[in-house]
Amino acid sequence: MAEKRAFEPIEVASRDEISALQLQRLRWSLQHAYDNVPHYRKKFDDRGVHPSDLQDLKDLARFPFTTKADLRDNYPYGLFATPMRQIVRVHASSGTTGKPTVVGYTQKDVDTWATIMARSINAAGGGPDDILMVSYGYGLFTGGLGAHYGAERLGCAVIPMGGGQTEKQVQLINDFKPTVVMVTPSYMLVIAEEMERQGFDPRQSSVRLGIHGAEPWTNEIRSAIEKRWHCDAIDIYGLSEVMGPGVAQECVETKDGLTVWEDHFYPEIIDPDTGELLPDGELGELVFTSLSKEAMPVIRYRTRDLTRLLPGTARSMRRMAKITGRSDDMLIIRGVNVFPSQIEELVMRQPELDSIYQIVVDKDGPLDSIAVNVEFRPAHLNASPAEQSRVGAELHHAIKSYVGVSAHVNVLHSGGVERTIVGKAKRVVDRRPK
Ligand code: DLL
Repeated sequence: MAEKRAFEPIEVASRDEISALQLQRLRWSLQHAYDNVPHYRKKFDDRGVHPSDLQDLKDLARFPFTTKADLRDNYPYGLFATPMRQIVRVHASSGTTGKPTVVGYTQKDVDTWATIMARSINAAGGGPDDILMVSYGYGLFTGGLGAHYGAERLGCAVIPMGGGQTEKQVQLINDFKPTVVMVTPSYMLVIAEEMERQGFDPRQSSVRLGIHGAEPWTNEIRSAIEKRWHCDAIDIYGLSEVMGPGVAQECVETKDGLTVWEDHFYPEIIDPDTGELLPDGELGELVFTSLSKEAMPVIRYRTRDLTRLLPGTARSMRRMAKITGRSDDMLIIRGVNVFPSQIEELVMRQPELDSIYQIVVDKDGPLDSIAVNVEFRPAHLNASPAEQSRVGAELHHAIKSYVGVSAHVNVLHSGGVERTIVGKAKRVVDRRPK
C-alpha cells in the first residue's frame, strides 16, 4: 500500500539506506559550506571543528548553530555558496523587524524543490488527475511558486490564483472546479465564509482536498475545515531558509503529523534554552541541516518551531508532530507561559463559536492584560445579550482552568473579528511597550 503511494522509492526505503544517504550527503553539505561560505568557515574554525570530523550522523551535534541573525548579518547574498551566475531564483521572507532574510536557488535546487513538492502533494492525496488551485501568495514568499512548480511536476492542472481577492477565489472555485486547494488554513475558512455569504455550500463544491500550512493550526481547525468543505485537510510545513514549503508533509492515509523529507533535510530537536540535543519523542526546538542544497546550504538552522520527532508510519522517514507554536510566539502573561494554540483549542471546543479569533495583549497599568476576541457562528446571528455573556463566561472559565490566565473574552457577532486576507493570519496583537 505504502509502495503504491510513494512518488519516489526513497520515501519507503529501509532506515539503513536512508541513514547511509544522509551521512554521505551531510559530509558533502558541510564541506560545501566550509569551502564556499566564509561565514561557515569562520564559525567552524572558531569552534575547532572541520567537516572531516563528521564520522557519524551524531557528530553533527559538534557543529555550530545558524540563526536568523546570521542571515540578517549577511544580508543579502553573504551566505550564498555559489557564484551569482549559477543562481536562478531569489526569495525573501519579511521578518517582523528590519530587513528581510534572503535565500537563493540554483537550477538544481529549484528542480529538487519541485520534486519534493510533487512528493508532498502526492503524499497529501493529490495526483495528475487533479485541478489544483494555488492560493498562497506568489512573489518573494515561497508559498505560491513552491506549490506551483511542485503541482506542475506532479502533472496537475494548476490554477495560479495567488492570495487575496476572496470573491474571485469563490468564483474560480465555482467555475474552474479545482479538486485541490493549497492555501493557509485560516484563509481556507475565510473562503468558505465568503462562499456561504454568496449562497453556495462549500460542501457541494468540487474541492476534495486542502493542503494547508505556512502558519500554526490545531487539529480542531482541521476538523472545522473538513466539516465545512467536506474534504481532507492536510498539513504541509516548510520555511524559506531551509527551502520553502515541502520540508515536511503529512500523509493523507494517516493524518498523524508530518513526514520530514529526511533525504534532503536532516532534523534535530534541541532544548531551546541550552542548545542541548534531545532524544526523539521529546518536545523542543526543531533544527535543520540541508543535505543537498547548492546555492545556500544551511547548517543546524534554528527554526524556533517547537515540535517532537516521531518514528515513521506511512513512510520510512521520521515524522514531526504538528507544530505547537514557536518559541518566540510564546506570550508571557503575568508570568504564565501562554501559546496561542492553547487558546485556539479552547475556542474551537465551543460549538457556538467560529474559528476566527484574535488575542490582544496590552498593559493595564503595570500588569499584562489579555483579551480574546471571538465571534458567534453565523447560525447564532440572533443570539441574545444573555447568550453572549454565557458563552463569554464559559470561555473565560476554560482559559482560566486550562491555561491559567484570566482573559477578558469579547464575544462578537459574525464578522466582528478582523480577517487576514493576504499572508499569514495575525492571531496575536501585542500592544505592550517593548
Ligand atoms: O511559510 C513556507 C510555507 C509556505 C510552508 C506554504 C507551508 C505552506 P516562511 O514564510 O519562511 O515559509 O515561514 C516559515 O512558518 O518556521 C513556521 O513557524 C511557520 N510554518 C510554516 N508551515 C507551518 C505549518 C513558509 N504547517 C515559518 N505549521 C515556519 C505551523 C508553520 N507552522
